[in-house]
Amino acid sequence: MNIFNAIKEGSKILKKNNIKFSALDCEILLAKVLKKERKYLILNLDKKLNRKNLEIYKNLINQRSYGKPIAYLTKKKDFWNSEFIVEEGTLIPRPDTEVLIEATLKLFKNRDYANILDVGVGSGCIILSILNEKPCFYGTGIDISSKSIILSKLNAKKLSVENRVKFIKTDVDNFSNGKYDLIISNPPYINSNKIKNLEKDVRNFEPKLALDGGLDGTFKILKVIKKASTLLKSNGKLILEIGYDQKKIIMSLLKKKGFYINNIVKDYAKNDRCVISTKIN
Ligand SMILES: C[S@@+](CC[C@H](N)C(=O)[O-])C[C@H]1O[C@@H](n2cnc3c(N)ncnc32)[C@H](O)[C@@H]1O
Repeated sequence: MNIFNAIKEGSKILKKNNIKFSALDCEILLAKVLKKERKYLILNLDKKLNRKNLEIYKNLINQRSYGKPIAYLTKKKDFWNSEFIVEEGTLIPRPDTEVLIEATLKLFKNRDYANILDVGVGSGCIILSILNEKPCFYGTGIDISSKSIILSKLNAKKLSVENRVKFIKTDVDNFSNGKYDLIISNPPYINSNKIKNLEKDVRNFEPKLALDGGLDGTFKILKVIKKASTLLKSNGKLILEIGYDQKKIIMSLLKKKGFYINNIVKDYAKNDRCVISTKIN
């Protein structure tokens, strides 16, 4: 079978299984199998696939047809300025989360030094993107999931920032090391009852531990806020990713814990997505 037909046949299978961007997904998967860029496929549509590559490709198409996310199949995802390694068992970095990086860089534009804590570090995409942009910043990433800690360490090496960051496997409740200029977090914030309504790619394949924010979605966010109130330096910043409908409740929780709200930033779809606050005194 040649490249053209492999994409055509793969795309038919994915379409039948209601996968939205069927042709694009096939191209990405075939490019991965051939270890080439996508443009190579377009320039070599007549080229025949050998039997081994065809088998590997068919297997990937099969997995995709069940809804396994492309990033788990290719084991990579672009986020901010870098490509991150992605593994099943850790959340796939989302474009919406880039809003937190943008906000941090703006807020710390004139700072040469900062000590940062990332709570629920996942793949490391938040803290590593910041350290990559700010060569004199240092940080710690914590996560309750050991898979996330292993992956974050791999990504730190990939981005060559491993000497400025450490990763600790711990529940946020049990962590009490250091004092920070910035605590940043994209905590699990989906209401437990709404997880079943998420797209099947997310619902069936991404870790519940990274999504489930308890019965009203704020259970884990509140833990981060409480921890930040003890671990932030005076006037330190807390930057949180929140659900599109959580602005009011999170602002009220922050105020109760002694934070001043600086700003709420919207994501690319114009939803309230990021709360910037300051620990007063
Ligand atoms: C929404 S994911 C964010 C991952 C990554 N920061 C990102 O933005 O892609 C939330 C992360 O919090 C971690 N987590 C959940 N409960 C935790 C807890 N009690 N203490 C520490 N980390 C926790 C999960 O394992 C997951 O990696």
